[in-house]
Amino acid sequence: MLTIKKDLFIIETANTTYAMRLTDHDDIQHLYYGKKLKKEDIKALIPKRELLLVNSLYMAGDVSYGIDDMSFEYSFAHRGDSRPSACILRDGDSEVFDFQFDKIIQHVKLDKMTAASHDSDIDFTIQMKCPDKDIVLRLNFAVFYDSDVITRWVEVVNHSDKNLSIEKLMSNQLDLKGGKYNLITFDGAWARERYKTTKSIQYGTYNAGSLTGMSSPECNPFFIVAKNNCDNMSGECYAFNLVYSGSHKICVHRDTFEGIRIMNGIQDEGLSYTLPPCQSFVSPESVMTYSCKGMNGASLNMHEFVQKNIVAQRQIPVMLNTWEAMYFDMSEDKIKEIVDKAVDMGFESVVIDDGWFGERNDDTTSLGDWFVNKDKFPQGIKGIGDYCRKKGISLGIWFEPEMISVSSKLYSSHPDWALKNNDIRDITGRGQYILDMTKKEVRDYLYDAMSFVIEEGNIGYVKWDFNRRFAEIRGKSGGEYLHNYILGLYELLKRLNDNFPQLVIEGCASGGGRFDLGILCFCPFIWTSDNTNPLSRAYIQEGTSYGYPLSAMLNHVSASPNHQTKRLCDISTRSAVAMQGVFGCQEDITKLDAKEEESIVNAINEYKSLRKYLSFAKIYRLGDGFDENDFVWQIMYNDSEGRLLIYRKRFLPDYINPVIRLYNLDRDALYQIEGAGCKSFKVHGSTLEDYGFVMPQNYMGNNTSDDTTMLLDDTAVVYKLTKINN
Ligand code: DGJ
Repeated sequence: MLTIKKDLFIIETANTTYAMRLTDHDDIQHLYYGKKLKKEDIKALIPKRELLLVNSLYMAGDVSYGIDDMSFEYSFAHRGDSRPSACILRDGDSEVFDFQFDKIIQHVKLDKMTAASHDSDIDFTIQMKCPDKDIVLRLNFAVFYDSDVITRWVEVVNHSDKNLSIEKLMSNQLDLKGGKYNLITFDGAWARERYKTTKSIQYGTYNAGSLTGMSSPECNPFFIVAKNNCDNMSGECYAFNLVYSGSHKICVHRDTFEGIRIMNGIQDEGLSYTLPPCQSFVSPESVMTYSCKGMNGASLNMHEFVQKNIVAQRQIPVMLNTWEAMYFDMSEDKIKEIVDKAVDMGFESVVIDDGWFGERNDDTTSLGDWFVNKDKFPQGIKGIGDYCRKKGISLGIWFEPEMISVSSKLYSSHPDWALKNNDIRDITGRGQYILDMTKKEVRDYLYDAMSFVIEEGNIGYVKWDFNRRFAEIRGKSGGEYLHNYILGLYELLKRLNDNFPQLVIEGCASGGGRFDLGILCFCPFIWTSDNTNPLSRAYIQEGTSYGYPLSAMLNHVSASPNHQTKRLCDISTRSAVAMQGVFGCQEDITKLDAKEEESIVNAINEYKSLRKYLSFAKIYRLGDGFDENDFVWQIMYNDSEGRLLIYRKRFLPDYINPVIRLYNLDRDALYQIEGAGCKSFKVHGSTLEDYGFVMPQNYMGNNTSDDTTMLLDDTAVVYKLTKINN
C-alpha cells in the first residue's frame, strides 16, 4: 500500500515498511526499509544534521544537506556523492547527471521488460526530470503485499533530439544506515552451481555478477544482505533478485559513515546502450524483500513471489529423460523399450535428449538442423510420437535452439547467422556458435523448425538447452547487443508459450547455468544442475532454495556410480534427494535391479500424491548444510503435510544425533512424526519449534535392527510430518 503524506512516501506490505522523502532540494531521500513501523512515526526517522562534517559537500546555502552521507533512492555520479552511483547517461560528449523530482504517477499500467503475470497490489512511479535536458527517468515500484516483496525497475525516456548513451542503469538501489552486515552470494561453476558464500561487508566496494551474456553458474542474480547475527532461523536480512537472464551486476558498498549501498541490475561493463530520440529503455525488474525471521523468512517471501507472479502454473509430468541412459547412442527400438518400461513404472513423459536430429552422433555437429535423424528414427518423430500416444505417455524432446554447429546444413545456408569472427583467433565453446537471436529471421526460422517438430511428434514437453557462453558479439556495443539478444530470446520463448499453451518448456543451460527469474517467466522449472550425485545435489539444492522455490528445481534420480562424481550412493538416498522438487529420472530404466526399480516406483507414487501441492510447497533449511555435517530440510506441501529430510555427509561413530528445531509451524496444533527408525509420536508445534524433534539414535554395530536409522556417509532419511488437529 502506498501512502503519500506531504513530503513522505510510505509503502507498506503485510510485515514491512519502506519509506522515502522528497527533500527541500527535490531529491528522493531513502528513510527506512525494515520491520513494519507506525506510519505516524516515520517523520521521526528524518536524519537531523546541523553541523558540517569536515570536508563534506552540501547543497549551496544549506549546510544541513550533506550529500555524502544522505541515503538516496537513486544516485548519479558527479553530484557530490562519493559512493558508486546507479546511473550514468551520456548525451554526446556530456554526462547527464542531475535529476530532480517531477511527479508521482499512479494508476497507469507500467511497462516491464518481461511478460510474467505480476499481479502486484499497487504500482507507481516516481518521475524525475533533468533540469537542462529533455530526459526523463522513472523509478518504478510494484508492491506485493502478502509476500512482503517490493520490485523496482527504471525507465529512461529520451525526449531530446539527440541519441542518449546509457552507460549504467541499475534497477535498484537501497541505502542502509549503519550496522554490521554480511553479503551472501550463490556462486560456482558447471556442476557446482549456487554454492553459498558469505563475506563480511567491509569498507569499499564489492562487485559481483556475470559478464558472459547469461545469468551464469558463476554468480546467481539472487543474493542476501544479512545482519551478521542472522542465520536461517532468526535475525534480519534483505534478499534481492533480478528478473533477467543476461549479464548482471551486484554491487555492495560500505562507506566511511558505515552506510551500506546495495544495487543490482544489468551489467554496466561495456553497456553503452544507444537510446535514440523519442524512445525509452526499460531496465530488468529487481525484486527485494526484508525478513526479521532469518533467511528462511526471506526465502519464503521470495518463493511466494515467484510461485504467484513469475511462474505460469502448468501440469508437470513425471519424466524419464534419456541423456545419461544413452547419450548420443539412441535408436527408435531402444526408445520404444524405454517407453514400455516407463509406462509400467508410472512415468508420464519420456524426454528424448540430445542426439535425435541431423547427423548428431557426438557434440561436434548438427545444431540448427532440427529435423529427425532417419537412421535412428526410421518412422520419424511422428512414428515415435504415435507410439507414445498409443501407450498413453507424452513425448518430450531436447532442443538447443540458440546454437549452430559449423558442421550443419543451417550453417551452410546461413553462415551470417552465427556469432563468429571467422579469423584465426576465433573463439568457440563445445565446438559450437551462438545464433544471432537479435535477428527476426533467425527467430522465425527457429519458431518454424521447432513448431514443425512439436506438431509432428505431438510433443508435450521441450527441454531448452544452452551450452556455451558469449565471446564474439555484433554491433557497436557488446552490452547493447547482449541485452537485445535476451529480448530476442524472450520473444521466441513467449511465442512458443502463447501458441502451444499445453507445452511445458524446461529451462537448461549445461545444467543450471541460467537459473534465473527471467527464464522462469517462460519455463515453470529449470534443470538444477548436470551434477546428479546426491551429496553434490544436496549442496546445489540447498543453495538454490535460498532464492527459488522447490517447484522451480528439476531433479533426477540417476545411476550409481554417478556419472559426474563417480561416487556410489544407495538408491533410497538418490530417490529422497531427487524428490525434493520436480521429480524425474535419467537412469536406463531397462537395466534397473529390483531394489532400484521398487525405490523409483515408490518415489513416483509418493511424488504423484504430493505433486498437486508442489506449486506452493515451502522449504525451510533447519541448519546450514554448507557449514554443518547435515543438510536438514523441512518441506511443507501444505499447511498439514510435510517431510523432514536429513542428509548426513559423514557418519560419525558414537555421535549423538541432533535435536532439530522446526520452523513456522502452527504452534497450538499437534503434529505426528514417523519414519526412518522413529516410531510414530505426537507433539505440539510449539515444542517442535522451541525445543525440537529428537532424532532417533544412529547405531552402528551389532545392535542394528530394522528399526534402527543408519545414517552412514552420504545418506539421507526422510520423516513424515502431519498436522493432526487445530
Ligand atoms: C547439457 C544438459 O545440461 C544435459 O542435461 C544434456 O541435455 C546435455 N547438455 C546434452 O548435450
